[in-house]
Amino acid sequence: MPMCGIAGYIGRKEAAQILLKSIRNLEYRGYDSVGMATLSEGELHVKKGTGKVSEVGEKLNFTTLPGKLGFAHTRWATHGEPSERNAHPHLSTSGKIAIVHNGIIENYLELKEELTDASFRSETDSEVIAHLLEKNYKGSLKDALLKTIEKLNGTYAICAMHAEKEEIAVARNGSPLAIGIGENENFVGSDVSAFVEYTKEAIYLDDFEIGIITPDSVKVFNNEGRELHKPPMRINWDLEQAQKQGYAHFMLKEIHEQPQIIRDSLSIQIPPLQKPNKIFMVACGTAGYAGLVGKYIMEKAAGIPVEVAPASEFRYSSPIIGEGDLFISISQSGETADTLAALRLAKEKGAKTLGIINVQDSTIARESDTVIYTRAGPEIGVASTKAFTSQLIALYKIAEKFSGQQYPLDSLAQKVQAVLDSEGQISKIAEKYFKVYNFLYIGRGFNYPIALEGALKLKEISYIHAEGYASGEMKHGPIALVCDEVPTIAIAPEDSVYKKSVSNMQEIKARKGKIIAVATEGDSSIVQHATNVIYVPQTQEELYPFLSVVALQLFAYHVASLRDCDIDKPRNLAKSVTVE
Ligand code: G6P
Repeated sequence: MPMCGIAGYIGRKEAAQILLKSIRNLEYRGYDSVGMATLSEGELHVKKGTGKVSEVGEKLNFTTLPGKLGFAHTRWATHGEPSERNAHPHLSTSGKIAIVHNGIIENYLELKEELTDASFRSETDSEVIAHLLEKNYKGSLKDALLKTIEKLNGTYAICAMHAEKEEIAVARNGSPLAIGIGENENFVGSDVSAFVEYTKEAIYLDDFEIGIITPDSVKVFNNEGRELHKPPMRINWDLEQAQKQGYAHFMLKEIHEQPQIIRDSLSIQIPPLQKPNKIFMVACGTAGYAGLVGKYIMEKAAGIPVEVAPASEFRYSSPIIGEGDLFISISQSGETADTLAALRLAKEKGAKTLGIINVQDSTIARESDTVIYTRAGPEIGVASTKAFTSQLIALYKIAEKFSGQQYPLDSLAQKVQAVLDSEGQISKIAEKYFKVYNFLYIGRGFNYPIALEGALKLKEISYIHAEGYASGEMKHGPIALVCDEVPTIAIAPEDSVYKKSVSNMQEIKARKGKIIAVATEGDSSIVQHATNVIYVPQTQEELYPFLSVVALQLFAYHVASLRDCDIDKPRNLAKSVTVE
């Protein structure tokens, strides 16, 4: 989900000090720009800039902002590059209303056209909220906010204030927002890590609710303006747990975010692209395996030949690439050195370049001719999970665009959720295997790249040696490793290569190898060939990678957790590799 962090304070103390701390605690939600607005003696004061909270806060002296109420924002750009003017808070034309926003306003362009009197200063979708509030303001911020949210399509958590009102108004739909209840002071946060140091009492806003907050009162209303009575809840989390929203690790939280990310990604727009003679998919690590799935879908759906290369090798294989070819780089960070070097070479040779990138305005995004931004939000766990899923969605949408075919991508969120719901069973299987030293992963067709990715996940976070192979390659070497101490994960859903996958499993079983099968729900015969089975919902052949990968992410996670590994920061690995 597109993420940003919002923090608010209203009370008897200087707001800026508190807000700076609060927003720092929300930095895991986004870190490309930061801003703060406070209110003092009928005047709004705003400071904002690009970069991380610590750098920007210090450079711009946020703590000199006067006033006992205000809010701050840490941004993860979706509409408009990270820049000072696109950073939040945004002001209305008169400068009397300030807002911060997390989410995406889908109809912002239409709204912008209607707001003919407003002077827009940014390229963001969020700024329309400030102007709509100003248009609707007739002396009551509550009424203006109710009228404003009526007009908004999309997702939002909003904090707003008016220069003449000692109050903070908040609203929510689809993006999280909590209100912290203190004594003579109240807080706002995208989650409770914004204020858990100050109070353990919170009211969580639900969708289509708004709140009006003063130092001594918190009033919550439904979208018709009727007051609701929402008793505060007790927060049992400490700061670290709050940031992980109760999950033991960021990686686990990110695995669980995938259904929402798939939903958010469905609205990604694919820019006009000329059908190329050939596509090159170039990336590193997990992003590279997304590219390999991309090859299967692109060749099958669109009939375009695709070459996949690890970015670190692309330059050394004397690639035959030029005009009429499309070079697709896939990168979560947009900063991976090898991917960037490959992109520069492809450009030099005259290919069109397209980046599938998660971080806005990153180097690869800036240097590519065209960019498709994935909607994974910040990924903190070093081992990539949700970024992979979001890259797959982008690749499938490109394949749709080139082929005119449609895949039922909108059915995926629910099916991925079903895989997540089987976490209990997956962790029980992990308990049986977490002490082994070696693992094999096999898959065929669309699930061959997932065998590679599954093995990568396991080695990255559990330090167990794992090798991914195309099932058919087993006989050409790896089967020599099979014995009762070397288990195999066989991805064998009911697809067009199912029978072949089953015979590969039989060959392993005949050599006393234990098998964990990833199979289609309802496939009862698979138990004859497998020691353990992880079931995933039935879907069409091309979509199984979305489901099998989530099962294998969870398996790797639970094995690593049982081995007490440092899951979010595995030894020797870095989230972004900016050296070749
Ligand atoms: C590192 C990370 C991986 C990631 C790879 C590519 O190795 O640990 O999780 O897949 O880099 O990173 P990128 O940011 O280009 O997707």
